[in-house]
Amino acid sequence: MAGFRTLDDVNVAGKTVLVRVDLNVPMKDGRITDDLRISRILPTLHELSRKGAKVVVLSHFSRPDGKPVPEMSLKPVAAALATALGSSIPFAEDCVGEPAQSAIDKLRGGGVVLLENTRFHAEEEKNDLAFAKRMAELGDIYVNDAFSCAHRAHVSTEALAHLLPAYAGRNMEVELKHLQAALEKPEKPVAAVIGGAKVSTKLELLGNLIDKVDKIIIGGGMANTFLFAQGREVGKSLCEKNLADTARDILRDAVTRGCAIILPDDVVVAREFRQGAPSKVVPAERVPADQMILDIGPVAAARLGTILADCKTLVWNGPLGAFETPPFDAGTVTVARTAAALTASGRLLSVAGGGDTVAALRHAGVAEEFSYVSTAGGAFLEWLEGKELPGVAALAAPAAVAAK
Ligand code: 3PG
Ligand code: MG
Repeated sequence: MAGFRTLDDVNVAGKTVLVRVDLNVPMKDGRITDDLRISRILPTLHELSRKGAKVVVLSHFSRPDGKPVPEMSLKPVAAALATALGSSIPFAEDCVGEPAQSAIDKLRGGGVVLLENTRFHAEEEKNDLAFAKRMAELGDIYVNDAFSCAHRAHVSTEALAHLLPAYAGRNMEVELKHLQAALEKPEKPVAAVIGGAKVSTKLELLGNLIDKVDKIIIGGGMANTFLFAQGREVGKSLCEKNLADTARDILRDAVTRGCAIILPDDVVVAREFRQGAPSKVVPAERVPADQMILDIGPVAAARLGTILADCKTLVWNGPLGAFETPPFDAGTVTVARTAAALTASGRLLSVAGGGDTVAALRHAGVAEEFSYVSTAGGAFLEWLEGKELPGVAALAAPAAVAAK
């Protein structure tokens, strides 16, 4: 891949390879509730192992704030990783120093070890050079397979890339390839579906996308702020009224720059927000004062389907309604299924990611049918904002050192 060295560019046999992955998986009562991040890193781990490397797995887990927090240990994840990988995985109680070194010393070629949560040390998040050197001492080569952590300039995501010969893992490679296909050199027309609750968290993203895509479809709570900015009644809907001016600026900017912003024609409203609450469909300009918008309506969903049918590329971030609380999932489900069908027929390249998006697509039963679903939350958003991701930039930087 242009700009990056990958596992194709290095001989790892007999080398100790530090692999940064994202094992920050959702857990409930000690059990992993979604193992997508684990399955995504298996190709890299298998390949390194098959090629005879000693594979040292690094990750953070949750936000322990620079000190050991027993409930945030990666130990329970080691067992899940071992099951997924089909081989036993020893666990080292620290990610640097003697515990790490002795666990690595016991590895044979092809063996895999998991080190404890990198964020148990405050230096990790400070991108501290001395700490980075201690970590780099453990290995010969650095592989970053954690796109979803690439927005963090931490020791294990950034500094290590400058201290060891650095390569993109297979997961990182696939992720970057799809993201480039979706926004950097996309087949046009390009549509973006942008949902979620708040405009305030997506301002930079909208500003960047206006220049890059042909149509921005806005749904979720965000759409309410835009409807309000256009002078519509939004009743009791979630709405950031203080951002009305900003929303109007965005709408104006979009016109000047040739990007169509599409707001829902009709919406689903209810008096209260709870599962199964009595609801009705109303035109977006007729929201009753005592009701709230909780989803896009069927006319909007059908129109969005027609719009997507005319596009070649789709970037999707955020649900179009309160999808976790039926019946307010209908809009998201309908549009997601349309996008999946267009993808299946080869007419659309569809890339989705960020926060609730994977859960929303899963709920619609189509997560597997998109061209690519990113496991990244914050990193996907920052990428949509057009920001340089430190973890990616460090890999792309001309290498100070290269492995033979
Ligand atoms: C994520 O879950 O988005 C990544 O693992 C990064 O975690 P963070 O937001 O705590 O840095
Ligand atoms: Mg995050």
